[in-house]
Amino acid sequence: MKALILAGGFGTRLRPISCSRPKTLFPIVNKPLLEGIFERLSENNIMEAIMAVNSLTEFYIRKQKIRKHGLKVRYSIDPPKTPLGTAGPIKNAEKLIGKTDSFLVLNGDIFADIKYKEIIKTHKEKKALATIALHEVKDPSRYGCVEITEDKRIKKFIEKPKKGSAPTNLINAGIYVLDPKVLQYIEKSKSVSMEREIFPKLVEEKKMFGHCMQGLWIDIGKPTEYLEANKILLKAHYNNKKYDNKNLKIKNYVAIDTGVKIGEKTVIGPYAVIGKQVAIGKNVQIIESVILSDAEIQDGSKINGSIIGEGVFIGKNVKIGNGCIIGDCAKIRDNVSLPEGAAVCPGKEISENILKSNIVC
Ligand code: GTP
Repeated sequence: MKALILAGGFGTRLRPISCSRPKTLFPIVNKPLLEGIFERLSENNIMEAIMAVNSLTEFYIRKQKIRKHGLKVRYSIDPPKTPLGTAGPIKNAEKLIGKTDSFLVLNGDIFADIKYKEIIKTHKEKKALATIALHEVKDPSRYGCVEITEDKRIKKFIEKPKKGSAPTNLINAGIYVLDPKVLQYIEKSKSVSMEREIFPKLVEEKKMFGHCMQGLWIDIGKPTEYLEANKILLKAHYNNKKYDNKNLKIKNYVAIDTGVKIGEKTVIGPYAVIGKQVAIGKNVQIIESVILSDAEIQDGSKINGSIIGEGVFIGKNVKIGNGCIIGDCAKIRDNVSLPEGAAVCPGKEISENILKSNIVC
């Protein structure tokens, strides 16, 4: 079986970090999300992936040279200046998909600890045209909720139901098995939405089924969700790691990649992820944040609840408040304070305090 991975969106909600990398390359506890997807596919014996991308995403993915875990990886590229949405790229990859076998479709911005074999089994048993993975959440009002019958047939999709009014807590997990016949439902060379245009037709024709998945599922689409994804995985896998530096205070849970330098009396954690070759000075505090590789953070700075891009420079005694996103290679000079929710575009230099939450381009 082949897997098609949707990875050509613009990731507008994760700007400005997504200005210089597609969402599927965002590191989750220092490992690109896509690498984890390849790993899981390989564990499930699915050895061929089609990356549905735009030309820029293709460039970034090839450049990163992530481990493929034995998979054969091919690229299907959206036409220039024509984003194809979530269904159009599947039609665009028709030749690579072939006409005979069912195939998997995965949203490239989702971390899911799913056994693909089980959803494929449901798909075959039900002789479905489409089978989607369903994940149970506490509050489905942020997502599309899905109603199913006792025999797992999809009855209805309800987009962002009002709080408390959703008939089920099951949401579309962004993982599907499709029969190649579904390609006939998608118009060529156009932006088409799988969720809004194709699935409702398949539901009407009673050809669509759901598979309730177990295990971890995280959508990294928004900054808070991205930080939460790191937090959840830190908690799951990094509780016993020891870092042998007496002058350093580690508050669980943290992940520190290779080549990182940390000065005296610095406090890392709780819930901090530090990427490769990051240089951190003395008396620094990093709490509930993700610091991408090659960043430098000088003495006395405090970072809380924020995402710091690759190669960012942070001077002395800088304060970075909750929910800030600093784009790659930006420079924040000494003594600057950034308010909650500030976003700094890649390469931008900030040498004065910013008072209101704002995007600084
Ligand atoms: P936002 O702009 O923040 O909404 O993000 P997005 O549009 O990148 O993501 P969304 O959650 O809407 O899309 C779900 C998946 O489909 C993601 O993995 C996207 O990369 C992918 N995707 C969305 N639009 C396109 C597109 O036009 N072409 C391709 N090839 N993939 C897409």
